[in-house]
Amino acid sequence: MPRTRPISLTRFLLEQQRDKGRIDADLRLLIEVVARACKQISIATAKGALGGVLGEAGTGNVQGEAQKKLDVLSNEILLEANEWGGHLAALASEEMDHPHPIPHRYPKGEYLLVFDPLDGSSNIDVNISVGTIFSVLRCPTDAVDPDEQAFLQAGTRQVAAGYAIYGSSTVFVLTVGDGVHAFTLDREQGSFLLTRSDMRIPEDTGEFAINMSNHRHWEAPMRRYIDELLAGKDGPRGRDFNMRWVASMVADVHRILTRGGIFIYPRDRKDPSKPGKLRLLYEANPMAMIVEQAGGMATDGRLRILDIQPEKLHERVAVFLGSRNEVERATRYHREAAE
Ligand code: AHG
Ligand code: MN
Ligand code: MN
Repeated sequence: MPRTRPISLTRFLLEQQRDKGRIDADLRLLIEVVARACKQISIATAKGALGGVLGEAGTGNVQGEAQKKLDVLSNEILLEANEWGGHLAALASEEMDHPHPIPHRYPKGEYLLVFDPLDGSSNIDVNISVGTIFSVLRCPTDAVDPDEQAFLQAGTRQVAAGYAIYGSSTVFVLTVGDGVHAFTLDREQGSFLLTRSDMRIPEDTGEFAINMSNHRHWEAPMRRYIDELLAGKDGPRGRDFNMRWVASMVADVHRILTRGGIFIYPRDRKDPSKPGKLRLLYEANPMAMIVEQAGGMATDGRLRILDIQPEKLHERVAVFLGSRNEVERATRYHREAAE
């Protein structure tokens, strides 16, 4: 029997538009364009030292972080790919202080795109998986030249979210509110092919992901939760847990979508001015939508991430996401401590 060929991202999107009526033609084009940009970023990443993409760019972003060459390049690739298609009203990114308007010479559309062009930058030079994270919102109808305010929408308003992981293979993971689907890049053919549909995160897990070096800076409920996991069989949980920390959120989330787990980047006392390290609009929200669509849970330790009303474009938030029963427990410990 001939092997059935996996369906392409292009066909998947067309079916989401034509048969399911989930997305319109503009959103389909938008996602196609983002995926094409991710393909370019994947190629640049894979060239490594040969492409001259390793190392520092010598500049900083609005968050005071040193930019890597690949942060800047990935941002440029996404901007260039998306600004002329006519499907967007504006773009915003981790690497730009303010939203990027669509140049007047191009038509404008009704969507807003916000992204982390290169997630896991500390891993670029050491050849460990990095990725791109994106979120799509509708532009408020009264916004003619959308500014920061237009982007300040709760995560529940996202119409699509996804990421690309540039790992041992390149995988584009997408939700348009109809489950989570993964497309692997066929490098010879140059297209993304559906390799996992309707990914589900198991409710229970024996694996956690957290940067343990911050232990001494954590708040009491955070230490309680992790200390119980570390105590393993001899502790109150009565079983052993395993730990993984890639330091690329995309890679940790991809593992959790594949085999379960809990990912935590809590608020800590190292820098009390920051309510966490990760950014709400282009890291926490898209990942929270993906995780919920896969049956998992995502909170900031107290509240559902998707319900948070953002106040700033580059706002930070604590993130607890993954297997439902563990996220629920860690969140409960925080709520109890706050009572
Ligand atoms: P970015 O490279 O986009 O700034 O994001 C890095 C984030 C996230 O991907 C990862 O989970 C976390 O920072 C790693 O933090 P530590 O350096 O504390 O391990
Ligand atoms: Mn990031
Ligand atoms: Mn980044």
